[in-house]
Amino acid sequence: MGNTHLSSPSKPKETHSTPPHDQSQSAHKPKTQESTDPQPIDEKEETLEDVSKEMNAEEEEEEEGECGFCLFMKGGGCKDRFIEWENCVMEREKNKEDVVGMCSEVTAAMFKCMEAHQDYYGPVLEKEEEIKKGERLGRGIVTDSITTPVVNTSAYFFKKTSELIDLKEGRRASFEYGRYGNPTTVVAEEKISALEGAESTLLLASGMCASTVMLLALVPAGGHIATVVDPADVHALESALYKNQVTLFFTETPTNPFLRCVDIELVSKLCHSKGALVCVDGTFATPLNQKALALGADIVLHSATKYIAGHNDVLAGCISGSEKLIAPVRMLHNVLGGALNPNAAYLIIRGMKTLHLRIQQQNTTALKMARLLEAHPEVSRVYYPGLASHPEHYLAKRQMTGFGGVVSFEINGDLMTTAKFIDALKIPYIAPSFGGCESIVDQPAIMSYWDLSQLERAKFGIKDNLVRFSFGVEDFEDLKADILQALEAI
Ligand SMILES: Cc1ncc(COP(=O)(O)O)c(C=O)c1O
Repeated sequence: MGNTHLSSPSKPKETHSTPPHDQSQSAHKPKTQESTDPQPIDEKEETLEDVSKEMNAEEEEEEEGECGFCLFMKGGGCKDRFIEWENCVMEREKNKEDVVGMCSEVTAAMFKCMEAHQDYYGPVLEKEEEIKKGERLGRGIVTDSITTPVVNTSAYFFKKTSELIDLKEGRRASFEYGRYGNPTTVVAEEKISALEGAESTLLLASGMCASTVMLLALVPAGGHIATVVDPADVHALESALYKNQVTLFFTETPTNPFLRCVDIELVSKLCHSKGALVCVDGTFATPLNQKALALGADIVLHSATKYIAGHNDVLAGCISGSEKLIAPVRMLHNVLGGALNPNAAYLIIRGMKTLHLRIQQQNTTALKMARLLEAHPEVSRVYYPGLASHPEHYLAKRQMTGFGGVVSFEINGDLMTTAKFIDALKIPYIAPSFGGCESIVDQPAIMSYWDLSQLERAKFGIKDNLVRFSFGVEDFEDLKADILQALEAI
């Protein structure tokens, strides 16, 4: 930007005129800061007295009804003054005042002036001026807000082509495009990394999206994926590792819906000895109850839809691990899409602020309810890692600090008796999903396996009388009373 002085065609003014701001310096400055910046007044040094005299003289010159642009012209011009003028015009229009009559001269002068300085004002002259009002140079980033700003943008602009070239040549940082990153999402990613003890986290549009992109990125064509069938059967995994060149072992722990647990430390050692990566889906555990990376896994994945966001209002998925492993997943995601919406990222950030409180409550409620259900005559079996009857109870105690908010159990009765129990409940919603503030209940035989025959369902261990209950943050005594009355109703 050259040092061209802006001056009013009608009233040339030298002493106080300032070159239009260098955009590269002013674009991201908050307005308050910008307006208090010392302005270069003149080549020769001016005393405070001189400046004050000048200002007084200027005030005297002001005629009643002068709009912001008149001040702008007199003041030498700056973006803030231009905005003032815009606001002034809008105000006059709102008050049905004669904008044209009052401002036509100065408007014409302003456009002349803007034409003369197109390098600065050029874009404002474009037809779409209206939609950019006040935003053209980018919004100031509010650094003193308690909460993280939601940056709803699909792209990031460059003030000059040279900046774009700087980005392409690695001298400048920018997300460039919404699919490649977002400042709000980065904050959510960093919060998850901090909880997981991970170098890097990638948030995506859903948990399924996270696993699909992760597998596509880390398992090459012809690669082999091992998944666990029986969590206690480590020999099956050993055999798979010996028989195949396994690239990646993928398991949930705890699993859905029986909450079986896989020994993360043990399977990680086995897999690593054969050069296979370990990815743990820790959704049921939450990043607070189980630290999969510290236990030896290479990657931990969550359906952030569940506990992490925690309010039944967001779909999201995340994967965390070393920068080396997450970087190729991020690169593929940047191409494939499945980007998280920044508003969803904000809801995750907000949800995570109470994660520890929610998990504490959900762990406690679920454990107490699991014990109560196990002792109830209308319940034939309870699946919960916190119970001594659970096949991996001791493993769960070793690798988890809490057992989560989901309890699965079987009712004494058939499909319809179980449905009757569910329908008698007053607090939980009948819905898929789990991990949110609101309790949710479902009958897996109907919710997830209805398209299979009873015999086929049995192959997965899904009995007609199975119930999956996700305890929310409601009062324990209320939930207890609700479950007891529903059991009595069958
Ligand atoms: C353990 C587990 N992992 C991943 C997913 C997939 O997550 P999303 O529904 O966010 O795609 C689910 C969904 O229910 C899940 O239960």
